[in-house]
Amino acid sequence: MSGTHNLRELARQIAKDVTAVDDFIVSNKLPYPSSTADTPLLFPVDPSHGDVYKARIDAIQALDSLRGLLLSPPERAMLQMQYMETAALQALRRFDVFKAVPIDGHASYSQIAEQCSIPEDRLRRFLRYAMACGFFDERDGLVSHSASSAVFLRIPLWYDMLGMVTELAFPAMPNVVNAMQKFPGSSEPNETGLNVAFGMDKTAFEWFAEDEARSVLFANAMKATMSAPGYNAEFIVKGHDWARYSDGLIVDVGGSNGHVSVQLAKQFANLKFVVQDFPSAFKDAAESVPKDLRVRVEFMAHNFFETQPIRGASVYLLRWILHDWSDPYCVKILRALVPALRNGSRILIADNTMPPRGSLPNHEEKLRSFADLMMMAFHNSKERSPEQFWALFQEADPRFKLVEFRQPEGSSLGFMEVLFENESEEP
Ligand SMILES: C[S@@+](CC[C@H](N)C(=O)[O-])C[C@H]1O[C@@H](n2cnc3c(N)ncnc32)[C@H](O)[C@@H]1O
Repeated sequence: MSGTHNLRELARQIAKDVTAVDDFIVSNKLPYPSSTADTPLLFPVDPSHGDVYKARIDAIQALDSLRGLLLSPPERAMLQMQYMETAALQALRRFDVFKAVPIDGHASYSQIAEQCSIPEDRLRRFLRYAMACGFFDERDGLVSHSASSAVFLRIPLWYDMLGMVTELAFPAMPNVVNAMQKFPGSSEPNETGLNVAFGMDKTAFEWFAEDEARSVLFANAMKATMSAPGYNAEFIVKGHDWARYSDGLIVDVGGSNGHVSVQLAKQFANLKFVVQDFPSAFKDAAESVPKDLRVRVEFMAHNFFETQPIRGASVYLLRWILHDWSDPYCVKILRALVPALRNGSRILIADNTMPPRGSLPNHEEKLRSFADLMMMAFHNSKERSPEQFWALFQEADPRFKLVEFRQPEGSSLGFMEVLFENESEEP
């Protein structure tokens, strides 16, 4: 995003935008944000608030630009060459420091060190760095949670998300370059940074599935995204006209522990769902489905590279599936659906989408690009533009017709609806 490069002008814009946001929160008596552990989990201004939401996003972008201008190039470069934030978070999670600090109180360094069996000197140094990054706080020699560290206790699934990032993605990332040298030009899912980091030759999903702790960590991290801004359940509920299928059947292909189907089942009382995945992904998941929904949300073991066994469903939903695979594998996944499709069957892709560079505010650009590099490290796959998604369908079968691509305001996921047209068959 380009914009002004004048310090004073940026400061004025920030003041104007922030005033609009502040006025809105105060006049509507919305919960006021703070940097303490009890701050509201969601910022009180969301995409439904139109211009006020835009003012918030513009202010974040302008703050980024202003900060950049106030630092000299060497200072900027030094700060951006940092990789310690994730390392500190890994240590603090591995030793369970997050849980040793009470969410509504404080603990001394020596208490935490003893409870977590970590030398106090190391604890202090990791915490000091984490505090400089906004995690945890210290007053009078006592450690408390900040808004950013408390989130891992307030939303327990986020602790698994942190585990997935620090224990799986973090070691994989520096090994991407090693994998590129070991397997030049590879787009195979078992020749990745993750493979080199952990010295194994399975795909990420096969490797997760063979270890219960890893498998649960990954499935919970996926579930955690439902409460992440940009990915929350509301977007999947509103991102598609589900009501039009009345009592139709939705196949949630690669649906993990069913968290997406459950959200949809809560909103659309007549729809039925079959969640397909490896059995390890939905181990014990059926019991976590609310009792009243169980008749409408079922689980089925199915490998999506094999022919789809459920014929003629209203929609085959692929949420966060294609981004895990390089192009030839995506084409195989789509072709495996074709024998099950009737004239008029729909496929809905809900996936991270990459818009043209420069069209997103920088903090959003960073999140999308982060996900893209994580896909590279885990699977030799990538995040795609809408055009790249559609190209996969065109290659898979000429009978696919693009209905629409939708990107709801504030959503990191785009929704591509594709129709299967088979003229030789009645709808
Ligand atoms: C990134 S997760 C997305 C999960 C879920 N759809 C969501 O939106 O949170 C990808 C899912 O694909 C599943 N998966 C991977 N390979 C598969 C395969 N060959 N057959 C079926 N499921 C598979 C994984 O177990 C995982 O649950």
